[in-house]
Order: sequence, then C-alpha cells, then structure tokens
Amino acid sequence: MLIAVLPGDGIGPEVTAEAVRVLEMVCGDRLTFKSAPVGGAAYKASGHPLPPATLDLAKRADAILFGAVGDPDCDSLERALRPEQAILGLRKELALFANLRPARLFPELADASALRPEVASAIDMVIVRELNGDVYFGEKGMRKTASGRREGYDIMSYNEDEVARIAHSGFRTAQARRGKLCSVDKANVLETSQLWRDVVIEISAEYPDVELSHMYVDNAAMQLVRNPGQFDVIVTGNLFGDILSDQASMCAGSIGMLPSASLDAGGKGLYEPIHGSAPDIAGQGKANPLATILSAAMMLRYSLGMAEEANRIEVAVATALAGGARSADLGGAMTTTQMGDAVLAAL
Ligand code: NAI
Ligand code: MG
Repeated sequence: MLIAVLPGDGIGPEVTAEAVRVLEMVCGDRLTFKSAPVGGAAYKASGHPLPPATLDLAKRADAILFGAVGDPDCDSLERALRPEQAILGLRKELALFANLRPARLFPELADASALRPEVASAIDMVIVRELNGDVYFGEKGMRKTASGRREGYDIMSYNEDEVARIAHSGFRTAQARRGKLCSVDKANVLETSQLWRDVVIEISAEYPDVELSHMYVDNAAMQLVRNPGQFDVIVTGNLFGDILSDQASMCAGSIGMLPSASLDAGGKGLYEPIHGSAPDIAGQGKANPLATILSAAMMLRYSLGMAEEANRIEVAVATALAGGARSADLGGAMTTTQMGDAVLAAL
C-alpha cells in the first residue's frame, strides 16, 4: 500500500520522520512511502503551497500522512499562496469531509490536563467535525451599509446531504465505540442548526443501536469542562467543531499528544497531528512526535484495515509514557528522536 508522506513546515518533518520509523517497524514492507513537499516548503521550492505533483501523489496514495504547514516567512504572501492553503486544498480536492479527533487522557499524563485529575481521567471521546461546509465555505465579503459603514459577512449554510453524510460518520463512529452520539448545534437560534437536528434525527432511525442526544453548543462547551466523561462521540458542524475540538484537546493534556483523521466517503484519509508547525521550537529536536505517531495508528485502523497493528502502536505509546518518556511539552527533556526511540523500544 502506498503512503503519501507530506512533512510540510517547521516541526512537520521532525515528527513525521518518527511516525514513519514506527510504521516501518510495525508494517514492514506492506507499506511503501513516497514524500512530497507541501506548504511553505513547497512554495519556496516551486512557487505553490500545493504543487500538482503533490496533489497527484495524495490522490494516488492509499492514505496520507501529513505533518503541518505554516511558515512565518510566508506571512506577507497573498492568501492563495499561503502554506495553510495546502491543507484546505487537500481537504477540498480529496473530499475529506469528516474530521475525527479522539481526545483521551493517558493516565500517565493526568497532571498535564487543564482539568482536575479525577475529571480529566474520564475523558475518552471522539469529536466528529464536518469539514467541507458551514460558515467557512459560504459566500463571504465586505460591503458598505446604507450609512457608509464597513460590514463583513460570511454566510452559514448546510444542505441536507452534507448533514446526512457527516451524521452517518458520527453514527458509525459511535457504533464502533460505546454507542453514544451527542449531536451539537444551536437549533434554538440558527436555521442551519434546525435542519441539522432534523436530519440527524431522520438518520438515527438507521442506527437503533446508537443512543442519540442533542446539546446546544454553548452548553457543550460548559459540559466539556464540567463533566467530559459523559461524552462518547460528538458530531457537529465545521465552526462549532473547530472550537470544541481544540477545547477538548486541552482538557486531555498537551497539544503534542493529539492525533486526527480527515476521511472521505470511501475510507481514504489524511492523518495529521492537531498541532501546527510550531516555528518557535522547529529545528531544535524539542517537538513531541506522539501526536503524529498516534495519527499513524489511526491511519492503519481507518484506511488500511490494520486494526491490530494500530492497537500495538497505541499500547507502545502508553508503555513509553509509563516508562517515563517525556518531551519538553510533557515536562521532560527528551528529544523528538528519543521519544520515537522509546516507542520503538516498547514495540
Ligand atoms: P502550533 O500548534 O504550531 O503551536 C502552538 C504551541 O504549541 C507552540 O508553543 C508550540 O511550540 C507548541 N507545540 C505544538 N506542537 C507541539 C509538539 N508536537 N510538541 C511540543 N510542542 C508543540 O500553533 P500556532 O503557533 O498557532 O501556529 C503555528 C503555525 O502552524 C501557523 O502558521 C499556523 O497557521 C499553522 N497551523 C497549521 C496547522 C496544520 O498544518 N494543520 C494546524 C494549526 C496551525
Ligand atoms: Mg483549530
């Protein structure tokens, strides 16, 4: 199986290198790796953050392992040439509409959570966020009001097919876990959310084994801090999911620990840590590679049909942590490579 490796910028190459080492050890010659530049690195090499050859490789591959994009050198470029456009372009071109972000606290890291240990230790959830619609992709612009004042606008919209396909992702994810799905919306105020709730309820008839509940997004933000252990799977739109998934991640410890998957309708996916390119620590060997290693485990589980190998990697990460493996973000002094070594040793 062909894996496209897109390391990107900043700490991206450092953390993806460790994930590739782990995949090579676990899967041997069942996987073939091909790398291509993306983001600021690609812009500097060829004038575009998502060059055609990179997009072509991503389309041909069975799965994509992505580091991070973002380069302070590129801050003054026009929006279409910025590194971050590469990840938006890949999501769109490959129709990656379902973003899965698991948040769980490794018991060894209870101190790293922003919450009290007894609350944090109960966190074990997946947030399923819609990625291709909502206010980010609606019509947007800047205009003048009748009285000549500037007015910006971004239209929030979802059609029922968009809601239905992410709802199916949410129900299927819940089926594979503890069978509880909480749909988060703002149906008391927003028309898009009313449609969202209606469609989720219609689809729920196909999943009698999943217990469905609904929550307004403001309450969900509060419940994530008050009692995060109540959630199994949350399904929500692009905007609400962006915010809630970052919030959930901090409840679960360091940003350097959290993986993600972005999936299309057929199970192909792009796998990346939730963090960015961390220019403040790039090139210093300080980055925690565990989020990317755990993303590689998700890749085996969701796109490559290797659930057992995925479990082995997750157990090895827990073993490495239990053995005291700590990078700087976890309060230790181990380098990126030493963290990778610790996982390899556990395997
Ligand atoms: P960031 O996630 O890159 O960094 C935030 C803080 O967390 C920094 O202090 C960083 O050192 C630390 N950090 C992040 N990952 C870490 C790791 N693996 N180990 C240890 N510490 C880690 O977010 P920031 O600073 O807002 O953005 C930097 C660049 O990354 C920007 O250009 C941004 O647009 C881009 N970005 C890209 C993403 C992607 O490629 N999907 C996602 C988020 C941001
Ligand atoms: Mg975000």
